[in-house]
Amino acid sequence: MASNKRANSSDVAAGEQQKLSPSGLPIRKIPGGYGVPFFSPLRDRLDYFYFQGADEFFRSRIARNGGATVLRVNMPPGPLISGDSRVVALLDARSFRVLLDDSRVDKAGTLDGTYMPSLALFGGHLPLAFLDAADPRHAALKRVMIRLAAARMHHVAPAFGAAFTAMFDRVEAGLKASGSDEFNKHNDRQMLDFTCATLFGGAPPSKVIGDGAAAKAYKWLVFQLHPLASKAIKPWPLEDLLLHTFRFPPFLVRRDYAELTAYFADVAAGVLEDAEKADPGAIPRDELLHNLVFLGIFNAYGGYKFFLPHLVKWLVRGGPELHARLAGEVRAVVPADTAKAITLAAVEKMPLVKSVVWEALRMNPPVGFQYGRARRDMVVESHNAAYEVKKGEMLFGYQPLATRDEHVFKRGGEFVADRFASCSDGERQRLLEHVVWSNGPETGVAAEGNKQCPGKDMAVAVGRLMVAELFRRYDTFAARVEEQPVEPVVTFTSVTRATAAGHGDGKA
Ligand code: HEM
Repeated sequence: MASNKRANSSDVAAGEQQKLSPSGLPIRKIPGGYGVPFFSPLRDRLDYFYFQGADEFFRSRIARNGGATVLRVNMPPGPLISGDSRVVALLDARSFRVLLDDSRVDKAGTLDGTYMPSLALFGGHLPLAFLDAADPRHAALKRVMIRLAAARMHHVAPAFGAAFTAMFDRVEAGLKASGSDEFNKHNDRQMLDFTCATLFGGAPPSKVIGDGAAAKAYKWLVFQLHPLASKAIKPWPLEDLLLHTFRFPPFLVRRDYAELTAYFADVAAGVLEDAEKADPGAIPRDELLHNLVFLGIFNAYGGYKFFLPHLVKWLVRGGPELHARLAGEVRAVVPADTAKAITLAAVEKMPLVKSVVWEALRMNPPVGFQYGRARRDMVVESHNAAYEVKKGEMLFGYQPLATRDEHVFKRGGEFVADRFASCSDGERQRLLEHVVWSNGPETGVAAEGNKQCPGKDMAVAVGRLMVAELFRRYDTFAARVEEQPVEPVVTFTSVTRATAAGHGDGKA
């Protein structure tokens, strides 16, 4: 640590400080390093997954490099899956923004970072999320996705109302039977049905494919993401060998994927036909079909799978006082005795509900890692220094550090339920510029020429509906929360149905 500090000050002494960035910050050499090929990436992987965990991995390297938040590090999985694990990590709100600027970063093949899953997992096609914004195929595919999301938006509230009722009827049955019940397993099952019902209509996967539909979808996700997973298998050396050393052979998931694809071919037939009519010849039907499978299962279902347990986790931690405030706000708009699904217009009138959802997305962006290659030689600025990056270098952002940055968010490391409700409109807009879970600012809009999530408004709507439906139905609830690397496991231990005394309808 001391030697690094000395190196930095001698660089400065050598005259580097005289070079200034466009906004007047001193240009420094990017600190950190990659160590010895093969061995250092391997050691860094073990630190990242097992000896330190992601947060500590980055925090300790920031501390080791005199507080610098732009650093050279190796990112997992490393050998033998990644050909090259070297990245420039951007770990504060300001430098992170480079990754959201499509004129500065090329996102071709960077969705999963330093490795690329086999195309055999996608019917031989490269899905939209792996294409760079400047690729003409990106525009053609994104157009379809944007149109689809807009056309299906009005299905979100009724479909979510049904999914919510199914989830919490089961939670209550589980509580009655055994005194506790895990939320995640219901979320996994119901949100796959919800995703397909919202985007395509028709019979849900659990009816057509059967009870194993969500497990098949999950298995396909695992085949793509296992190099980034951890804490699933014991002991850890075995897990490291199995998950992080070689790619699972795609043929082992071929049959499940074929079944899922057949389901999508049927349920999304109308979308495929409309796309052909709207833009004849732009995208071959088979390529669009595989893209719709990726959209439904990876982008949307995968997103809800990580997002909703985090949201419920923060509600649990908020305790009875926050619950009472939320119940008051929700029931002032939607009385507890109405049986109909809550609408998007209704949640629009609930500032605390909206704030809680943005705050959960700020604290735990469901996709925490963003990558992109520098399109040209450029200068990246952090809050107090600037760094030169060469064309082609891989830039990486660990989003939870960017969105908890105290330079932007006061008490950035704390969940502040009314952060976005108790401020002026102008201040809220300023803060929302830095809520970037959708791969773009919350104030931004997905477009053919950018990489922002076209399901952004749908995802936010689902979060709001989850909070509103919870506090129409319950006065309060309690649960155990077990933090896991990807999603927390939330196990309900009690729920208190809305009562007349607690603003509600008197139903127990
Ligand atoms: C909670 C739910 C969701 C989360 C957390 C989420 C998150 C994200 C993120 C972080 C990206 C950017 C990935 C990257 O390049 O690094 C993305 C892209 C994308 N999302 Fe979402 N998303 C969600 C829901 C949806 C839904 C409902 C749809 C369906 C319309 C959707 C469709 C897409 C598509 C097509 C892309 C690729 C965009 C492009 O490459 O230009 N997402 N999403």
